[in-house]
Amino acid sequence: MKVLVLGSGAREHAITWKFSKSKRISGLYIAPGNAGTEELGENLPNLSPLDHQAVVDFCVEKKIDLVFVGPEDPLASGIVDRLTLEKIPAFGPHKAAAELESSKAFAKRFMTRHGIPTAKAREFDSSSEFEGFMKKHGQRVVVKKSGLAAGKGVLDSDSVEELVRFGRKALQDDLLVVEEHLTGTELSLFALTDGSSHVLLPVCADFKKARENDEGKNTGGMGAVCPVPVVDAKLLETIRTEIVEPTFKALAAEGLSYHGVLYFGLMVTDAGPRLLEFNVRFGDPETQVLIPLIDSDFGSLCESVVQGKLRDFPLHFSSKAALGVVLASKGYPDSYKSGIPVKPLPSFSESEVLIFHSATKLNGSGQVLTGGGRCFTVVGVGANLLASNELAYGAAARIEFEGVWCRRDIGKKFFID
Ligand code: AMP
Ligand code: GLY
Repeated sequence: MKVLVLGSGAREHAITWKFSKSKRISGLYIAPGNAGTEELGENLPNLSPLDHQAVVDFCVEKKIDLVFVGPEDPLASGIVDRLTLEKIPAFGPHKAAAELESSKAFAKRFMTRHGIPTAKAREFDSSSEFEGFMKKHGQRVVVKKSGLAAGKGVLDSDSVEELVRFGRKALQDDLLVVEEHLTGTELSLFALTDGSSHVLLPVCADFKKARENDEGKNTGGMGAVCPVPVVDAKLLETIRTEIVEPTFKALAAEGLSYHGVLYFGLMVTDAGPRLLEFNVRFGDPETQVLIPLIDSDFGSLCESVVQGKLRDFPLHFSSKAALGVVLASKGYPDSYKSGIPVKPLPSFSESEVLIFHSATKLNGSGQVLTGGGRCFTVVGVGANLLASNELAYGAAARIEFEGVWCRRDIGKKFFID
């Protein structure tokens, strides 16, 4: 089968890498791709995932059998609706279901309507009402811009002034969701869905804050682990029966079922698991730790998703653990430079260390240049998280570019002594 992957991040590099291992692949294209995906397939640097017509034209010309949509923007813009119209199989939701991610107000209303356990929330469309609420409300809250914001649309702060300033600005062009602040363990759970059945993937955890001990600003994610040792069978069963199953029932009832992946962003509180958000795509950096643990053929797996045959698919996972560390540019998550030259990357045994690029490019002399705030995810795959941690940090120390930094404590809170 011929596959087109849309995106240029480390998530798409991991997905492309897994497709490249599939026995089913006869052609692999990545639009636009990065310096890492270039080694695995054909990059299409001039094909924008947001240009529906150009994507369709390419698929028709090359007889593409499956389009795998990595990021949220093309999904929110309706790329899957367009591909479906042209009878090109696509992994990802149509525009109406993508609203579960592209509108936090829509998602919160959906959760509330269907009794899915979540943080109590209120929606605002006017600054005066919001500010009045913030003056009276005594408890700590989290303020969220409703629309897509690349990980920068949520403020979790104990300063009311800061929350009000953030909310006032967001209200200039968007709705606002204000919700109770929850504490607990945050988990990332992904379910593959083929439109009528679904299957849960091993639980991951994302390290979202910029600094050690989960301090500092929210980021797109500074590291991830899979699986998560604190999640036992009982907790997983509670999450399944109270959150996952009701969600899929509700999606079917509202005509929002689709072929792809649904992410449940969870907070496990003392009162039980609560759903913080949906994403309608794989997470970054969770994908980088999840994908290496899938033992089944990835091409066949994605085909079973788009063909509605997931129920019969023999899905197997490795018993190993994966830990990913994000190497970021100086200044991230605020302003940073891109195009910084990277010293030649060392090579490692793929069964132990994987380096996934994010938005990197090659210059005229073949040198890798950084492309964004988060530049690489270095993944260690070992017998347990402690072993994976040593592999990942050992490899990360050998990747050099000016200003490179990473969180030093990825996975630490989950190590079993
Ligand atoms: P979201 O995009 O809604 O997942 O929010 C981004 C991050 O903000 C989450 O991953 C959490 O770390 C944090 N967050 C969101 N909602 C809450 C909440 N109600 N209580 C505490 N933290 C939250
Ligand atoms: N890691 C969370 C996300 O991809 O948005």
